[in-house]
Amino acid sequence: MTRLPLQTRAIILAFLLGVGGLTAGVWRYGYLQALGQLEQRGEADLALASDRLVRQLQLYQALAVMTADRPALMGLDDPVRRALAEALLRQVADKSGALDLIYADAAGHVVVAANPGLTPKDLGQQAFFRRALHGALGRGHGVVGALQRRAYYFAAPVFAPGGAVKGALIAVADLEGIERSWRGNLPPVFFTDSSGLLFISNRSDLLFWHRDPGQLGLTPPDGGTLDFAARRVGTHDIWRLGWGQYLPERALHLSRDVPLVEMTGEILINVAPARRLAGLQAAAVAAICLAFGALLFLATERRRTLALANAALEVRVKDRTRALSETNEKLRQEVIEREEAEAALKQAQADLVQAGKLSALGQMSAGISHELNQPLMAIRQFADNGAAFLSRGWTDRAGENLERIADMATRMDRIIRNLRAFARNEREPSGKVDLAGVLRQAVELTEARLKADGVRLDWIPPAAPIYVWGGEVRLAQVFVNLINNAVDAMGGRDDKLIGIEIGEQGARLMVRVTDTGPGIADPEKIFEPFYTTKEVGGDEGMGLGLSISYGLVQSFGGNIRGANAPGGGAVFTVELERWQAERAA
Ligand SMILES: Nc1ncnc2c1ncn2[C@@H]1O[C@H](COP(=O)(O)OP(=O)(O)OP(=O)(O)O)[C@@H](O)[C@H]1O
Ligand SMILES: [Mg+2]
Repeated sequence: MTRLPLQTRAIILAFLLGVGGLTAGVWRYGYLQALGQLEQRGEADLALASDRLVRQLQLYQALAVMTADRPALMGLDDPVRRALAEALLRQVADKSGALDLIYADAAGHVVVAANPGLTPKDLGQQAFFRRALHGALGRGHGVVGALQRRAYYFAAPVFAPGGAVKGALIAVADLEGIERSWRGNLPPVFFTDSSGLLFISNRSDLLFWHRDPGQLGLTPPDGGTLDFAARRVGTHDIWRLGWGQYLPERALHLSRDVPLVEMTGEILINVAPARRLAGLQAAAVAAICLAFGALLFLATERRRTLALANAALEVRVKDRTRALSETNEKLRQEVIEREEAEAALKQAQADLVQAGKLSALGQMSAGISHELNQPLMAIRQFADNGAAFLSRGWTDRAGENLERIADMATRMDRIIRNLRAFARNEREPSGKVDLAGVLRQAVELTEARLKADGVRLDWIPPAAPIYVWGGEVRLAQVFVNLINNAVDAMGGRDDKLIGIEIGEQGARLMVRVTDTGPGIADPEKIFEPFYTTKEVGGDEGMGLGLSISYGLVQSFGGNIRGANAPGGGAVFTVELERWQAERAA
């Protein structure tokens, strides 16, 4: 993976922080909402628990008030009446479920009791009793000594006939019996008295815990300290507790005064569900935000990658274009160089052709000078004789001589014209050439040499012209080369014969030049420049004749081959294209 640019990483970080903040906000909002609902439910539960306690205790309050008015509590000095009163109290206690019913005189001495022996110690000192002696209803709570049970006391004044308070009737309610009916199913509920003692609860582990003044938390009776921390979330009190497995770790704490029993009711509601709900909401929001962010990120990353790829592509295209233009420029340069080289080559070839011709002329020069010398000598002879005839007045004979001189001059003129034509530097492109004429020219040019070397020529000139593609002088050069080579090859042989014949093969014409020489030593090499079996450096050969001929014939669209004839001697075949009017057009 490519490293993200700094800016993108900063944006991602900012986005994540934003999502984190939003998630925290959603969590808090959801938590507060859920706490609000928990509080409503908790208030209802606490109200229910308080009402139930109050209602049940009020029964005992009513019992105390009504029993206090009973006439059976009069004249208790009489042991019989006392026994009757005691039976009554026992009966009422049994029916009401009270722990005890006690009648005590103003000094706090128990006169009669339903369960003698359960009587609280120092009755006279108890606040609720003293309150009853003042004619009001006294309330109090405590542990009934002998049974170690928690009890709630109601003390109702008992009036003498004169209206004075002569004692009090105390109803002792069994708190455990009341608690038993609402234990377990509610959240932890407890009631603390004004001294901070936790006296009533639906969780028995909490009983007798106490709250020190100025404190919120409670301490177990053995005085040990347990984890406790309170804090406010919104308007709610949240307690963190380490108070055992039956109490929540985190709880919403609510309280309300219950004046009828002179206690404060408190409830602890587990906030774990609220936190779970808030967590779910926050997680959903975070997931949506992150998914949205991821999509956005992928889309921008895709665009960024595309842009990068585009840029890279552009750079490559630019590079490639530059490389192509460079290559183009190089090619152009090469083309120019090649054209120049071609021009130079053409020039060299032309020079070579010319040189070849001059070399051929050199080869023929002996024959030619002989050929020119002979008529020149004859002319001289005829002229001398003519002059002699004239001086003798033999005009007829002189005229004959003059005619012969003219014939000789004509013959010399033909030879010289041929030589001039051959030496001409032909620059014209290929065109229509009479093959018969060209062959005649070549034969005439080499005639002198053939004669000098005693070579016979087997050649029947065609009657009509045969037109082929070529250049007149250059084509003549080819045949002059072939004839010269043949004469060279046959040097020292007894029977020297050169044959020339024209054949046809489709649209092509074949000129075959044969000789009776020793044949070609290495037919593969003869067309290579500077290949010669003749004495190099001498007048004999340069090894250029055939290679020049090859180039010339090829340039006419023809072909030249050299081989050995089965009967001995060499056979050279020049293949030429027949001239056609359409092609020329
Ligand atoms: N008719 C022939 N018979 C036998 N060998 C031949 C014949 N014609 C050519 N060759 C061989 O081919 C060689 C090349 O011939 P080419 O005409 O190219 O060069 P050259 O005759 O040696 O020299 P140049 O023609 O330049 O004076 C000759 O040296 C000879 O060995
Ligand atoms: Mg040659």
